[in-house]
Amino acid sequence: MYTLSTEQLEIQENARHLAQTVIGPRAKQHDIDQEYPWDNVKALTQAGFMGMTIPREYGGLGLSYLDTVLVVEEMAKVCAVTGRIVVEGNMGAISTVMKYGNEAQKQLAASYVTAGDKAAICITEPGAGSAATQMTTRADKKGDHYILNGGKHWITGGGVSKFHLIFARVFDEQGEELGIGGFIAILGEEGLIVGRREPTMGLRSIPETEIIMENLVLGADRLIEPPKGLKRGFAGLMAAYNSQRVGAGTVALGVAQGAYELALEYSQQREQFGRPICEFQGLQWMLVDMSIKLEAARGLIYKAAGNAGDGFPDIAEAARAKIFAAESAIQVTNDALQIFGASGYSRDLPLERMCRDARMFTIGGGTTQILRTVVASQILKRKLPQTRDGYT
Ligand code: FAD
Ligand code: COA
Repeated sequence: MYTLSTEQLEIQENARHLAQTVIGPRAKQHDIDQEYPWDNVKALTQAGFMGMTIPREYGGLGLSYLDTVLVVEEMAKVCAVTGRIVVEGNMGAISTVMKYGNEAQKQLAASYVTAGDKAAICITEPGAGSAATQMTTRADKKGDHYILNGGKHWITGGGVSKFHLIFARVFDEQGEELGIGGFIAILGEEGLIVGRREPTMGLRSIPETEIIMENLVLGADRLIEPPKGLKRGFAGLMAAYNSQRVGAGTVALGVAQGAYELALEYSQQREQFGRPICEFQGLQWMLVDMSIKLEAARGLIYKAAGNAGDGFPDIAEAARAKIFAAESAIQVTNDALQIFGASGYSRDLPLERMCRDARMFTIGGGTTQILRTVVASQILKRKLPQTRDGYT
């Protein structure tokens, strides 16, 4: 297992302090207002938690995914949205650019994220959710630039994130498809349109919106081409995306840990039948099962993050961690609410918010069904195409 170093324990302690004293007390109101928590973004930026994984020469802290995971969990224990902001300030789109980008692209991305921008990653389309390889957004080369057309939806941070990484099919001047690449676009550029915002069940203070490309003209220098080229572009971009899957699993873990700690404390205070309810074996076993799920999820997450080293998390390790953490988060938050009885069902307490927030993680970032197929493909060591004609 991963023993945390003195430096990591210090990062964790600093994050916990910020979360408990500043972020947590604001979480309820942000959920009610459904407005992006700019105040938290400012606090995260001041604490150095945006761009932790960015190398020092680009203004970051040059820290690891495991270091980031420690911060994400602490934030998510009190505010899942803030946990997600730390994820996208260190993993996903920013990781992709910092590992695959050229010098200018890295400078550009780092300048946004270290100033507090939560980069947006734009993959999903109305007709291409799980079947992401069937995306239709296209980038047509014209001289020294590309023209992008297409539509994404469910983009986290739509309208508040400035830096976007957009997955698109790339075509040369003759109209021949070269593969899938990632394009950098900046909010405010003509042709980059923020569409409808989804009325979401949970995680309500971060917008999920359509992002529409309508003759969006981008210089050729905005194309991120993974090392093995555009033909292998999708695989390269998704390899980088494994970092975000570990991050999403960590937010789920954090929400669940936060709910568990509240339930553990409440069970020792609330009395029925003249005894604290924690003295009833029915609740003791619930608390034990919750703690087992949390420990196991944390182990899978630390393994996936820790093994990434200077690269990206392994595809199967990331998928296992996200599946288990996401499913555990639904169960643990639900059990925590149960332990609170009727008061857990009240909006006065954070339990109902935690249940709503936890519900997302088996869907976004690859559903638990799709991720099981990903792991199956790895353990069986064979391709498992899901299209009807895939096996012919
Ligand atoms: P579908 O693909 O239509 O799936 C519907 C159901 O069918 C699911 O249960 C799925 O598991 C199942 N299914 C589909 N194919 C298979 C199969 N082959 N085998 C077994 N079961 C299958 N996307 C982005 O690009 N950027 C973002 O920032 C982003 N943020 C998100 C934030 C939130 C809160 C949510 C909810 C989603 C976000 N997404 C984002 C989109 C997300 O990645 C997709 O929702 C997800 O990939 C699933 O796609 P879908 O919703 O179209 O479901
Ligand atoms: N890490 C590394 N490589 C990956 C990968 C990942 N997470 N996901 C896919 N790849 C590689 C595959 O190994 C394959 O490489 P190969 O040609 O060497 O075998 C290539 O990319 C194409 O993947 P494949 O599984 O053959 O594609 P598919 O058409 O069957 O589509 C996926 C399946 C990949 C789209 C599906 O599994 C998936 O991940 N859907 C969810 C999308 C998602 O997470 N969206 C989140 C948006 S926020």
